[in-house]
Amino acid sequence: MKILLIGSGGREHALAWKIKASLLCDALLIAPGNPGMADLGELIPIKSDAIADLVKLAITRQVDLVVVGPEDPLTLGLVDALAEKTIRAFGPRRAGAQLEGDKSFSKKIMREALIPTAEGRSFNNMRSALSYVETRTEPLVVKASGLARGKGVIVCRDPVEAMDAVRDMMEKKIFGTAGQTVVIEERLDGPEISLLAFVDGQSAYIMESAQDHKRIGDKDTGPNTGGMGAFSPAPLLTDELLVRVQREIIVPLLDTLKRNEIEYCGILYIGLMLTPGGPKTLEFNCRFGDPEAQGLLMRLETDIVEVMLACIDGKLDGITLTWKPQTAVCVVLASEGYGWKPDDQVTRGVPITGIEQAAAMPDVQVFHAGTAMKDGQLVTSGGRVLGVCALGADLADAQKKAYAAAAKIHFPGMQLRHDIGGAT
Ligand code: AMP
Ligand code: GLY
Repeated sequence: MKILLIGSGGREHALAWKIKASLLCDALLIAPGNPGMADLGELIPIKSDAIADLVKLAITRQVDLVVVGPEDPLTLGLVDALAEKTIRAFGPRRAGAQLEGDKSFSKKIMREALIPTAEGRSFNNMRSALSYVETRTEPLVVKASGLARGKGVIVCRDPVEAMDAVRDMMEKKIFGTAGQTVVIEERLDGPEISLLAFVDGQSAYIMESAQDHKRIGDKDTGPNTGGMGAFSPAPLLTDELLVRVQREIIVPLLDTLKRNEIEYCGILYIGLMLTPGGPKTLEFNCRFGDPEAQGLLMRLETDIVEVMLACIDGKLDGITLTWKPQTAVCVVLASEGYGWKPDDQVTRGVPITGIEQAAAMPDVQVFHAGTAMKDGQLVTSGGRVLGVCALGADLADAQKKAYAAAAKIHFPGMQLRHDIGGAT
């Protein structure tokens, strides 16, 4: 098969690596990709939100399967546009992708499905939002309803902060149009885990567990980021919890989507908080987590293209996923300023060294995220630059290997957390 992968981050590098290993993959095109993926497939410089150009590419290059990595093209309807041209694609259509792209919609579906989640309300009018905050005494969380690169959530300590958050989003528009509608909800407490599932429209197949570290600093300090590292499996996810999630979240969600005539195919990512009152859904995403994907895909033994085709054909019940028993740890190496400064002020363009030495270590993969080539030299080009991943016999072993590999890599201003997977 000729496969076209869309995206350019660490998650997509891991997907490219796994797709390339599939017996079903004869040729791999990647749009736009990054320099780390250059030896896995043909890089084509079309951005992942250029829907019409991507459809044209899939037609002219006679692509058999399109795999969509990030959320933007999904919420923009890439899968719908490909379906119109009878091109098969892995990922939900626009209607399903709203679960991530429109938190207000997602909340409505959760309420309809009676899925345990934080109590909350949506507002598209600032005055009403502020009046609502005034009536609340509990700690609140204010969320931009639209896509904001994982940063559109402000966890507030008191109503004053919540008022400021509402004004920042709706008046100052710090998240642009994503903040035109806000969701205000009660603040929950507890550890978080990510649960990912393959979904074929009818049923879901839950993957091994993973946990990411969202804060920029060690011991979960500092601002939230897209994710500074992840590990899999996450011991917090017990069998009992898994049964509850299946019964209380996944089954009612799929039923409710069907009732709303939304056929969901692709990855469903459930952000869960384990509260004293049981597991509650913080968010749904419509794609693999980044950096959860890097660790999960290193552990997945099954041919991923086979699984994706089974999802598209509604035949997931014929699939069994097998996983390496080892633990995976992925440590993100980020640019100076990432997490602290607005994206456009993060340091870019500085040279990176040591990747080859790191990647040559046993059980290690280095996945590129924000890298570029400049005058024949690999340089940084984004907030999260690399994901250094390792498999180990247990968590401690995987941590040791991932950190030993990360120590080989250098670029000016490099930030990393030293406690991915727990205190080392
Ligand atoms: P989200 O994008 O909705 O998952 O939110 C990003 C992060 O904000 C989550 O991973 C949590 O750490 C935090 N968060 C979101 N909703 C809540 C909530 N209701 N209570 C406490 N923290 C939350
Ligand atoms: N790591 C969190 C996310 O991908 O949304």
